[in-house]
Amino acid sequence: MLALSIGALALAFVSPAAAAQCRNQPGDAGFPTQAQWDQLKAELGGRLVQPVPTAKYCKQNNCTTAEWQSTDLRALLPGAMNSNNWEQDYATPSMCLLNGTTCDQGSVPLYAVNATTAAHIQAGVRFAAQHNLRLSIKASGHDFLGRSTAKNSLLIWTQHLKNTSFTEHFRIGNKDYGAAMTTGSGAGLKQLYTEAETHGKIFVGGTAATVCAAGGYSQGAGHSAFSPVLGLAADNAIEYQIVIANGSLITANEFSHPDLFWAIRGGGGGSWGVIVSATFHAFPIFNATLHQTTIVTNSTIQTGNVMAAHASHIFDLDPVRAGQYYYLSGSPGGSFMSVSTFAANVTGDELRATVSPEVTVSGTPNDLIPNGDWAIEQIVANLTTANPPNTTVAWGDDVSGQNLIMGSRLIPSSAFKNNASAIGAAYTTLLNQGVPGILGHLVAGGQVAANAHVSNAVNPKWRTAKSHVIVSQGWIDSSTSPQQVEQLRHNLTYVSMPVLDAVTGETDAGSYSSEGDVLEPKFQTTFFGPNYARLKSVKAVYDPHDLFIVGAGVGSENWDEYGLCRK
Ligand SMILES: Cc1cc2nc3c(=O)[nH]c(=O)nc-3n(C[C@H](O)[C@H](O)[C@H](O)COP(=O)(O)OP(=O)(O)OC[C@H]3O[C@@H](n4cnc5c(N)ncnc54)[C@H](O)[C@@H]3O)c2cc1C
Ligand SMILES: *[C@@H]1O[C@H](CO)[C@@H](O)[C@H](O)[C@H]1NC(C)=O
Ligand SMILES: *[C@@H]1O[C@H](CO)[C@@H](O)[C@H](O)[C@H]1NC(C)=O
Ligand SMILES: *[C@@H]1O[C@H](CO)[C@@H](O)[C@H](O)[C@H]1NC(C)=O
Ligand SMILES: *[C@@H]1O[C@H](CO)[C@@H](O)[C@H](O)[C@H]1NC(C)=O
Ligand SMILES: *[C@@H]1O[C@H](CO)[C@@H](O)[C@H](O)[C@H]1NC(C)=O
Ligand SMILES: *[C@@H]1O[C@H](CO)[C@@H](O)[C@H](O)[C@H]1NC(C)=O
Ligand SMILES: *[C@@H]1O[C@H](CO)[C@@H](O)[C@H](O)[C@H]1NC(C)=O
Ligand SMILES: *[C@@H]1O[C@H](CO)[C@@H](O)[C@H](O)[C@H]1NC(C)=O
Ligand SMILES: *[C@@H]1O[C@H](CO)[C@@H](O)[C@H](O)[C@H]1NC(C)=O
Ligand SMILES: *[C@@H]1O[C@H](CO)[C@@H](O)[C@H](O)[C@H]1NC(C)=O
Ligand SMILES: *[C@@H]1O[C@H](CO)[C@@H](O)[C@H](O)[C@H]1NC(C)=O
Ligand SMILES: *[C@@H]1O[C@H](CO)[C@@H](O)[C@H](O)[C@H]1NC(C)=O
Repeated sequence: MLALSIGALALAFVSPAAAAQCRNQPGDAGFPTQAQWDQLKAELGGRLVQPVPTAKYCKQNNCTTAEWQSTDLRALLPGAMNSNNWEQDYATPSMCLLNGTTCDQGSVPLYAVNATTAAHIQAGVRFAAQHNLRLSIKASGHDFLGRSTAKNSLLIWTQHLKNTSFTEHFRIGNKDYGAAMTTGSGAGLKQLYTEAETHGKIFVGGTAATVCAAGGYSQGAGHSAFSPVLGLAADNAIEYQIVIANGSLITANEFSHPDLFWAIRGGGGGSWGVIVSATFHAFPIFNATLHQTTIVTNSTIQTGNVMAAHASHIFDLDPVRAGQYYYLSGSPGGSFMSVSTFAANVTGDELRATVSPEVTVSGTPNDLIPNGDWAIEQIVANLTTANPPNTTVAWGDDVSGQNLIMGSRLIPSSAFKNNASAIGAAYTTLLNQGVPGILGHLVAGGQVAANAHVSNAVNPKWRTAKSHVIVSQGWIDSSTSPQQVEQLRHNLTYVSMPVLDAVTGETDAGSYSSEGDVLEPKFQTTFFGPNYARLKSVKAVYDPHDLFIVGAGVGSENWDEYGLCRK
């Protein structure tokens, strides 16, 4: 009798998610009944909502174009992704477009827990495990791989976890980590810069106002224009509070669950559990300088020459450990590039003198630019006075509502040293393929390289990289068929990325998993390098039944592209 009831107990504890081939979807016998959803809603104090596609919301609310493109608005919509393509399921198809006549749910979750406490998250995670549901996690919806939404899923939405605190002495046991910032997983970078500044502090962050430091940003690695001086966000994380698949709220740091702590920092968003909050090193604020300039060219050959010159001068910036975004939008008829260079503790004049040879290509025939193929350089802003870095990096938010995909490569220092002309030629090739945007980020080297000893899951390719280069692609739904979308995606992966691969001079080139291609064919090595096997083993401990699956994330090779059925 005793043995029997223990057996029954054990059975009751085996999650239905363990063995099932597929997640329960509407219509399946195991899908929760309305009464069960109502019970969850009651348990959550009413905080269970039904997300809708942004186009549906906007038709109902007569959104202006500015509202449609507003990232601040999308942050408040549980169903919204910043890049509208991720709300769609082009394959079925199941779509909801602004100009369409029908509106289907697409890849927008069915239900969402609007969490403001860890207990709300725990209730949602337990419900998903108990009913074998597809689970998704979203903080802001910035994800470039569509990983923060999933068709027929229950979403754990952490946008409203915005609490922060600052201390001069963050302690774990007897160890004092010095100044630190603790942030809820829904706090955006602009909120954090502003609050940090009032404490005379800065942390490692990007420029987008609503990207969440404790969401996907630091889990992916988290690069900043100040990474050459401060390292990556993942290098600066001290602790995470996280709800794992069995519903427990645990602390992950170097002493408590150190294996999970290692994995979270670089192992990618959405794969480990739901982060409630994270603690990061905070640095004393410093004076920073931003130099901005634009370069305009008239042909792809000219662009290639300019980019070769830029590449050959990239090490000029090392002495001041500057970071730089060099964003090029191009067409075969010419290109427009904005170059923003950031440096700590140097005057504007010093920075201008440092950057000039790299970006000044007008007037004098540069060695690398054949006669007649000169580009125009103009300085659009001379922020020569010292500015608090919060102001320098906290930009207005990005424009959203477009269809956007991308692929990227971490270009090693060796390629810039040995092969600057090949880097220029790659730009010409890519632009001739019809690539509309090539976004360079000089955010490695310096402290990022020096942090190679930090024990975290950041792809080691970051430590030898000089620049992170993104190739982007987009389309307009009204003039592009789903078949053409498929063709564009195929070309990005199989026609454009090999061009960047060749430039790296490596056979196992790396890519930044948060700004990359979800269809990356060898994502395990491309995104995670030699860390993949260990990441899998950590996942087996904390998420043995794959509750937390995202596209091109750890363990996703065992699932279909929707994360709905095992392969
Ligand atoms: C305009 C723009 C600018 C960017 N600039 C930079 C930059 O300067 N540097 C840089 O490194 N990256 C940058 N990124 C990329 C950015 O870091 C990633 O998109 C990142 O994943 C965003 O995290 P999020 O939580 O805000 O987004 P979300 O889309 O909400 O989530 C991203 C991923 O994290 C997971 N996730 C979200 N919240 C949680 C949580 N609470 N617990 C567990 N998992 C969670 C999601 O499931 C998803 O997999 C930028 C992106 C955009 C769109
Ligand atoms: C949107 O516009 C329509 C037509 O003008 C109007 O009937 C409707 O009330 C508006 N909806 C909202 C939410 O303003
Ligand atoms: C989510 O919760 C926040 C905080 O309580 C609230 O302000 C917001 O309106 C809620 N959002 C939705 C879509 O229910
Ligand atoms: C956030 O801070 C407020 C004010 O200190 C507090 O009342 C609230 O409980 C906190 N919420 C969380 C989720 O910690
Ligand atoms: C940065 O700090 C300055 C100086 O205190 C302040 O005036 C400014 O508003 C801050 N900017 C941001 C974006 O927080
Ligand atoms: C959940 O998993 C963690 C980590 O393996 C473990 O420490 C904890 O005891 C588990 N909790 C339950 C309720 O099983
Ligand atoms: C920044 O520059 C101003 C003006 O030169 C100076 O007064 C201030 O002390 C500097 N701040 C820091 C943190 O170095
Ligand atoms: C800036 O200079 C100050 C004063 O010399 C120094 O304390 C600080 O570490 C420097 N910060 C950076 C990021 O270089
Ligand atoms: C580009 O073409 C325009 C128009 O032909 C010309 O005025 C301009 O000087 C050219 N610029 C460069 C950099 O060649
Ligand atoms: C920036 O400074 C340089 C050098 O002083 C000057 O030539 C240029 O005109 C300035 N540009 C702007 C936009 O102020
Ligand atoms: C919707 O139609 C309007 C008017 O034709 C057009 O300007 C807009 O770009 C279209 N939007 C999308 C998302 O296709
Ligand atoms: C994809 O690439 C092929 C071969 O390079 C090209 O012919 C085709 O036009 C491209 N398709 C799209 C949609 O860009
Ligand atoms: C330089 O780039 C070319 C083409 O992009 C590539 O074939 C070659 O292997 C690269 N050489 C080195 C030394 O990386």
